[in-house]
Amino acid sequence: MERIAKGIYRIRIGKPEQLTPVYFKETSVRKAEIEQLPISKKAGIQQEDIHFTVGNQGVHINLPMQGTEDIYGFGLQLFSVNQAGLRRLIKVNSDPPCDTGENHAPVPFYISTSGYGLFVDTYRYAEFYMGTNTLRGSSSHMTRENKKHEEFSEEALYSLRRFKEEREVIIDVPAVQGVDVYLFEGNVREVVQRYNLFSGGGCVPPMWGLGIWYRTYGGSSQQDVLKMAEAFQYDQMPIEVLGLEPGWQSHTYSCSYKWSNLFPNPEIMLTELQKKGIKINLWEHAFVYPTAPFYNEIMPYCGDVEVWNGLVPDFALPEAREIFEDYHYREFVEKGIAGFKLDECDNSDYNQSNWSYRSSAQFPSGMDGEQMHSGIGVFYQGVINAVYKRAGKRTYSQIRSSGALASSYPFVLYSDLYDHKQFVKGMTTSGFSGLLWCPEVRDCADGKDLLRRIETVMFSAHALINSWRIPNPPWKQVDIQKNLAGEEMMDARYYTDVCRNFMNLRMQLLPYLYSAFLEYHLYGIPPVRSMILEFPDDEQVRRIEDQYYFGKSMVVCPLTREDGVEREVYLPEGSWFHFFTKERYEGGKTFRISADYNEIPIFVGDGAIIPLAQPVAAVRDDTVFDMDIHVFGRYAGTFRLYQDDAAELNESREWPFVEFSRERGENLKYETRGKTCGRYRISGVNYWQ
Ligand code: GAL
Repeated sequence: MERIAKGIYRIRIGKPEQLTPVYFKETSVRKAEIEQLPISKKAGIQQEDIHFTVGNQGVHINLPMQGTEDIYGFGLQLFSVNQAGLRRLIKVNSDPPCDTGENHAPVPFYISTSGYGLFVDTYRYAEFYMGTNTLRGSSSHMTRENKKHEEFSEEALYSLRRFKEEREVIIDVPAVQGVDVYLFEGNVREVVQRYNLFSGGGCVPPMWGLGIWYRTYGGSSQQDVLKMAEAFQYDQMPIEVLGLEPGWQSHTYSCSYKWSNLFPNPEIMLTELQKKGIKINLWEHAFVYPTAPFYNEIMPYCGDVEVWNGLVPDFALPEAREIFEDYHYREFVEKGIAGFKLDECDNSDYNQSNWSYRSSAQFPSGMDGEQMHSGIGVFYQGVINAVYKRAGKRTYSQIRSSGALASSYPFVLYSDLYDHKQFVKGMTTSGFSGLLWCPEVRDCADGKDLLRRIETVMFSAHALINSWRIPNPPWKQVDIQKNLAGEEMMDARYYTDVCRNFMNLRMQLLPYLYSAFLEYHLYGIPPVRSMILEFPDDEQVRRIEDQYYFGKSMVVCPLTREDGVEREVYLPEGSWFHFFTKERYEGGKTFRISADYNEIPIFVGDGAIIPLAQPVAAVRDDTVFDMDIHVFGRYAGTFRLYQDDAAELNESREWPFVEFSRERGENLKYETRGKTCGRYRISGVNYWQ
């Protein structure tokens, strides 16, 4: 067992493969920050508990699991939050048929409530049996029988089946002769922090990236996009980023990376939009169509397969990266494109289509198809990230597949396949393994559904309305056919007003949310996360799937259309305040909370300090936020409001902040650290008790 940093150890089993996530990791371990982290829970396993064999089928690892142990992690998981008692297959798949563990961004990393986390450094389709199996003889002490079983009933039949006996964690890593396993110590929160800091720390988006995004209709022309921007201004919708969908390219599926006839003068469009403070993000995928200007150049550095008639670049090779990077830098980033949506870099075995490549595909770097499926999403983020680094700018972009050690990449995962409840689960599960997830607003069943989805997305890592299927905003018409026909809903004005209110609320919270990202970067605390990270010792929160922390202090409890206007909310021990009504709740129990379709329940604990700005239409370089500080309850509390230019890239920088603090029952004090850039003007302090 080799010590990597405080509470992080590497265990080498057999002879590991060379090409693994750690081998390709671009960032260094943030050792200084890891040293500062406590280890408040002793690891429930020791080195001698980890057994392994190396054989024809690969590496097989097993370790003990207690009956009371709960498990989190494995990257993005859309079907379940607590992974105890489940088998997880770590295989990228864009259409998971059910709760198998497969999805857009599975990660071979889990966290146990027994005081440890385990990362298996592999791109292989590893299988984790989290207490689903026991080894021969381990039940030989069991003697209970069903004495009451006089007549058949299902209840009696299953009553003695026990889920919670002593169990095993079994990990199978196929096709390898060895593997490195990393052990992280601490409680759930500290393990997550250690993993993120080991990955290089969380990403720091530009502040504009946290504003409101709108993806336009796939068939929009340059004129349509400009008209849309004007309509948003007219309706005072604070849309910050417009996303262009496949129609901007002269060929898609696969990509030509050239503007189509619908966009005769993209540079003029960009200048016009810039004047309005609007940025452009471009849809694309990695598969290179023969008419792409760099097709011939990149051919030797691609796999021996095609997807949708396009080449699959081997981004494990510097040559392939450079060609892709140069082109993107010259053609797009230098001309003002603010980011990309990297679509379809996930795999699917369940589609009737030439998508994607087989697991046995060969790439010139030595990677095979299986490894590339696991790696391509993170490689692709690295490529686009490098383009923005070259330009000295930050980006905030979208990606449909990610994986291990990706915390420092400023990309948010998305997919249009899931229902609203699954979207909410994705927000908490992604936060366990250094990923961000967007519960995008799209395909709403009706106005109520639209409002519920808008409410959730405004309290997520990425406030995106994805209208790629409809030419008019969903608040004008939710029905796709009627929207295509240009028909407006009767109550469009009401929906427009409510959506605007929620968008403005998001804009008011930008400095608060940006500060949460800095805590992600510096300390590895995910900006959107499960309640377990805040209350690691409260057993009640272990199974909560539908409430989460947003930033330092807000517990968000979204409702879906199916929930109607009431839901249960669990508040841990202590005093809490309803963020909007300021009503006080004594926690340690579950409440039934009502919320009309234009309301979302949010709670903050006693001691919370929250800056709330006047909403702005867009974040420009010279935007100054006028803000009030809201102080809840009487307990002591602190809040660091980070304040830099929030746009330029400068990795060695000190991050200036104003620290607000308050002793119990006293007034708020503040102190400035570093050279803040005067973007925040504090107008007043409100105390809520
Ligand atoms: C999908 C993607 C959508 C949209 C669409 C355009 O795969 O998830 O958001 O971009 O492609 O064809």
